[in-house]
Amino acid sequence: MTAYDVVVIGGGPGGYNAAIRAGQLGLKVACVEGRETLGGTCLNVGCMPSKALLHASELFEAAAGKEFASLGIEVKPKLNLTQMMRQKDESVAGLTKGIEFLFRKNKVDWIKGWGKLAGAGRVQVAAADGSLLELQAKDIVIATGSEPTPLPGVDIDNQRILDSTGALSLPEVPKHLVVIGAGVIGLELGSVWRRLGSEVTVVEYLDRICPGLDDETAKTLQRALSKQGMRFKLGSKVGGAVVKGKSVELTLEPSAGGESQIVECDYVLVAIGRRPYTQGLGLESVGLATDKRGMLINEHHQTSVPGAWVIGDVTSGLMLAHKAEDEAIACIEKIAGKAAEVNYNAIPSVIYTKPEVACVGQTEEQLKAQGRAYRVGKFPFTANSRAKINHETEGFVKVLADERTDEILGVHMVGPSVSEMIGEYCVAMEFAASSEDIALVCHPHPTRSEALRQAAMGVEGWIMQA
Ligand code: FAD
Ligand code: NAI
Repeated sequence: MTAYDVVVIGGGPGGYNAAIRAGQLGLKVACVEGRETLGGTCLNVGCMPSKALLHASELFEAAAGKEFASLGIEVKPKLNLTQMMRQKDESVAGLTKGIEFLFRKNKVDWIKGWGKLAGAGRVQVAAADGSLLELQAKDIVIATGSEPTPLPGVDIDNQRILDSTGALSLPEVPKHLVVIGAGVIGLELGSVWRRLGSEVTVVEYLDRICPGLDDETAKTLQRALSKQGMRFKLGSKVGGAVVKGKSVELTLEPSAGGESQIVECDYVLVAIGRRPYTQGLGLESVGLATDKRGMLINEHHQTSVPGAWVIGDVTSGLMLAHKAEDEAIACIEKIAGKAAEVNYNAIPSVIYTKPEVACVGQTEEQLKAQGRAYRVGKFPFTANSRAKINHETEGFVKVLADERTDEILGVHMVGPSVSEMIGEYCVAMEFAASSEDIALVCHPHPTRSEALRQAAMGVEGWIMQA
């Protein structure tokens, strides 16, 4: 039995960041990961491969469609899907190797195999060759992540009926892809395949896309994606799916009930959310249990069992890599006896479509429900000079600030490069800045970031450039 200060179960953004921070703080640490490679969902089958395909497909569409031609660049691109997938896989391999390097640098032992709690302070690891190993630790961090939520009647085979992992590695461009779920995965991966030539229909149970997103922001995104050719069937549910050779027959019904219809396609992507992953984790050996949604609850990253901690997708909150990372740092610092806190109100969310969506803090709907008096500053990208010369004028920046104190409460953006710009408002909110603070900060010209300043000016009614 090998003894550690900390054993982390799971090598995703929660787990690997926890292990690295523990190593930095001089703790003896091991990270147990059952996959062949480190990096979890994010690096292997999530954030990174999806962004690789979003980048490549965006360039392909710009070259194949009217965008390049309108700039005076005439080309006739040909899709080489094998190479597009290869470059994605090579990038992913480089990134996962990078985590191995960071582990060596920070003296983290990677224990390869599936970990299982085996009583207080003990983790049993089953290696791929069947051998068993036992680790002992004062503190154990559970960071086992999440998996796709299945949809009864629509069985994922990753041949014709795909989850996100299958949709990241298709051998051909679908003729017609039906995406079930108008959430982040559906819209990002739907965009990838539409740009490469597929007809895409998105079926959503609710009467809106992206529940949780600021209403106006969601509507603007839906309008933009519709204009690009993505079709939406809102307020619809899928009753079942039957694979018939190379095609799939889906039964669609209105969510509120009514007559069903058959929709045919050659591929289906099921993207109706993700659920916490705790399979085979031996929770019962320490007296831990999940809630009704399969989630391990936490109080400041601690479970109800002393010495057992939980971070990332397997616990409450947004299922995002940077949220897992923040929790990893706070959790390990607490284990090391430091004071640490995650500010959940300053965790941004991004949808990497074109235009992109980036948000932080409260939505207008949330503020209304709280009865909080707020002011709105909104600036359209049509009035931003950089966006205009780049022909990327869809969208806006919207700043919500407290009516009395002017504190920034929420920021919602749709537009070009907003993923790279939301960080400014995260910093501002961490420092409890007012909208006036941003309005008075000099931003470089000509950049899209000027829209951030103009929107802030708008809170007090002095937008200068629209
Ligand atoms: P995971 O990354 O899921 O890692 C958990 C790891 O634990 C896995 O590697 C698993 O093999 C391992 N494990 C599980 N059980 C055991 C066990 N018993 N023993 C050993 N190992 C175990 N988030 C963003 O912020 N930005 C994005 O752009 C983004 N894009 C995404 C795109 C897709 C297609 C998907 C599916 C997700 C995306 N996400 C994105 C979400 C992001 O991937 C997750 O929020 C993040 O990976 C969560 O990190 P985690 O460490 O909690 O869990
Ligand atoms: P999601 O929660 O974003 O969206 C799921 C959608 O499916 C919702 O709109 C929901 O109403 C709908 N839905 C649920 N049941 C349905 C049914 N039976 N029929 C039709 N529609 C149904 O989940 P998604 O897209 O699967 O993503 C999972 C998680 O991965 C997200 O919560 C997100 O945190 C993370 N992610 C983050 C990304 C990013 O940060 N850019 C990218 C991709 C994923």
